[in-house]
Parts: sequence; C-alpha cells; structure tokens
Amino acid sequence: MTEKNNINTIISDGNDNEAISKASKILKNGGLVAFPTETVYGLGADALNEEAAAKIYAAKGRPSDNPLIVHIADKDSVYELATEVPEKAVMLMEAFWPGPLTIILNKKKIVPDGTTGGLDTVAIRMPSHPVAMKLIKESGVFIAAPSANTSGRPSPTLAEHVIEDMNGRIDMILDGGAVGIGIESTIVDLTGDVPTILRPGFVTKKMLESIIGEVEIDKAIIEPDPNLRPKAPGMKYTHYAPKGEVTIVEYEDDGINPDKDKDESPQSNDKKVIDKINSLVEKKNAQGYKTAVIATKENAPYYKCENVLIVGEADKGVTISANLYAILRKCDTIGAEYIYSEALNQNELGGAIMNRLLKAAGHRVIKAN
Ligand code: TXA
Ligand code: MG
Repeated sequence: MTEKNNINTIISDGNDNEAISKASKILKNGGLVAFPTETVYGLGADALNEEAAAKIYAAKGRPSDNPLIVHIADKDSVYELATEVPEKAVMLMEAFWPGPLTIILNKKKIVPDGTTGGLDTVAIRMPSHPVAMKLIKESGVFIAAPSANTSGRPSPTLAEHVIEDMNGRIDMILDGGAVGIGIESTIVDLTGDVPTILRPGFVTKKMLESIIGEVEIDKAIIEPDPNLRPKAPGMKYTHYAPKGEVTIVEYEDDGINPDKDKDESPQSNDKKVIDKINSLVEKKNAQGYKTAVIATKENAPYYKCENVLIVGEADKGVTISANLYAILRKCDTIGAEYIYSEALNQNELGGAIMNRLLKAAGHRVIKAN
C-alpha cells in the first residue's frame, strides 16, 4: 500500500490571490506546488532547501543526477546564485527575461547539491507567466522546478496533465489554464568560451546570435550518438514517448538526382507524405492494430485513419509547440499502438519541435520518397 504517502493534492485557480498565498506558505514550509509557466507547468520547491528539492525527485521518479532549474522573479537574484555573471549573460537576461530562456552559470555555495544534481553550475530562469511571477515573489523563495510530469512522460501543458501525473503526490496545483508556448525553455550554457545551446526552445539560435554573436549547439543533441554525452543531463533520457510506436514520415531530397524534383511544389511533396502514411496505416489496421496520425491542419483532411490528431499549422511553429505534448498524451488516451507523424520542421520553431518529436519517435524516421 502506498496510501501513507497519499496526501490530498489541493487544486486551485492560479489567478486567485488566496490560492497564491496558500501555495507560498507550502513552498516556504518545504512542500511541493505545481504552477503554470509560459513554457510548461513546473513542479516547484524551495531551491535552497535540499530536503524540499529531494521531494521533487521522489514525486517525479526523476534520476537524482538530473539537475533542476531555479526560477527567479528579479534579474538581480542571479547575483545571489552565481559566482560570476559574464557580460553575455547580462545581455541575454536583458533581451529575453522574463521569458523562455534558461542560462547556466557557475553556482554559489548557497545552491545545494540536491538542486544541481551535484554539478558546480546552476540553471536559472526568470519566467514571464504572471502566476509563476506572483508565486516566486510572494513566497520569497527561489523555486526549483522541473516540468511537472512523471519522468519520461510529455511535459504538462494543462493543469489536467499535472493532475494525471501528480495527484496525491504533491501538496498543491495552481491551475492557470493552457500554457502559451508548450515546449520547455531554451537552455544556454554560459560557463565555457562559446555560449552553447544545451536544449533548443522558443528562443532560437538566430535570436541568441542577434544579441551575443556566435552560439554553438551541443552536438550530442543534434545526432543521437552513443559516444556523445549531452551537457544537460536531462537530455540523455528518453522523453515524451507515448506507449505506442511513433514513426516520423518525411519528404527529403535524396541528393542523387538533384534536378529530378525541381518543378515539384511543396504540395506534391506533402502528398507523398500523406500517401506513405495512409499506406502504413492501412497495413497496420489490416493487422488489427489501432493507429493514429499526427498531422498539420492543412493536410489533416487527406488522411484515412480513425484518429487524425491535428497538431497545428505547418508554417506557424507556436501553434504546433502549444499542442504537441497534449497530442502525444492523447495517443495514450486513445490507446494508439502505431502513430505516424508528419515531420514538423517547416517553421521558425522547427528545430526545437523536431528535437522533441524525434525523441518521442526514438529517432525512427522514414522517407516518403
Ligand atoms: O521551460 C522550462 O524550462 C520548464 C519550466 C517549468 O520552467 N522546466 C523544465 O525543467 O523543463 P526540466 O527539469 O524538465 O528540464 C531541465 C533541464 C534538464 O535537461 C536538466 O538536465 C538541465 O535542464 N539542467 C539543469 N541544470 C543544469 C546544469 N547545471 N547544467 C546543465 N544542464 C542542466
Ligand atoms: Mg522535463
């Protein structure tokens, strides 16, 4: 029986001031509160209280070497947490905070090992969501918060997702409705010579470079290579995967005969993807399996599948990022055994979205041509 640990989770409207007061008290006393941010819901605890941070790992079933992001409500707080704040960090803070950017800096001693997974560095983010802001300010603590999902599941973009994963395991959930961005913050490591993206997100490489010049991307997150270890420990774990098998179907020029497809419009490339997915679905259905298709709005009407899940508009990245995790969760709700997704890379957030989709698919990608 796990009843003993089964506290009752309080679920409240995040816009209610009384609820924020209650949540603040819980945090100050070392408890756990899930709250909305502009990226995904976070599972918060007092970042400087090692015992409180330890509870996060227990609630999520998270490996203890995977460090937490410390959320602050005031740029000056960075100086309390980091030993040095390089000029490029200040420039990024000015340009993107509050917002979906996390920076990695060398940590001060007050940040316990239990929060940083034993690393000498600390991840810091100033979220822009009003509920997150109010909670940090009113509680007066820095809030360590990973995404509020069970380890391995897609991050929560609705309070309902948090309830699904965390009900009975944490003290309180603040409901702020649907989040805006839907994928986790961009993480940039500023402790080395060249700033390095450890996790792609809403703030793109191009946006970062427009402020601070050259930025690298951690090679380990571009290609799955067992010899490369991602610099963000969390990036090495399987993530976001529904129970069914996800396959991405993409159209790609094979480069062998570059002129061959010269006059083809993108629409006919899409048609090849649609035809390929329809034939895969047909095969699996004939074998008695339940299937689902993850499609852009434009292409959705052309799929012959019992479950066509519309993820967003092909060329508007944020319509896709906002829905992606809810759609991956839905695959489980409907019990899909085989899931086929279009490649979702034709937009400004393509890199960040494909990073998550590829993980959900265990890097299973097939060509439509
Ligand atoms: O958007 C977000 O960042 C959300 C919301 C709640 O703020 N949080 C989030 O946290 O995505 P989490 O724990 O799910 O992901 C944090 C990532 C992990 O991959 C972790 O390994 C990495 O940040 N990380 C944290 N501290 C680090 C450090 N000192 N060095 C390198 N990577 C670090
Ligand atoms: Mg996470």
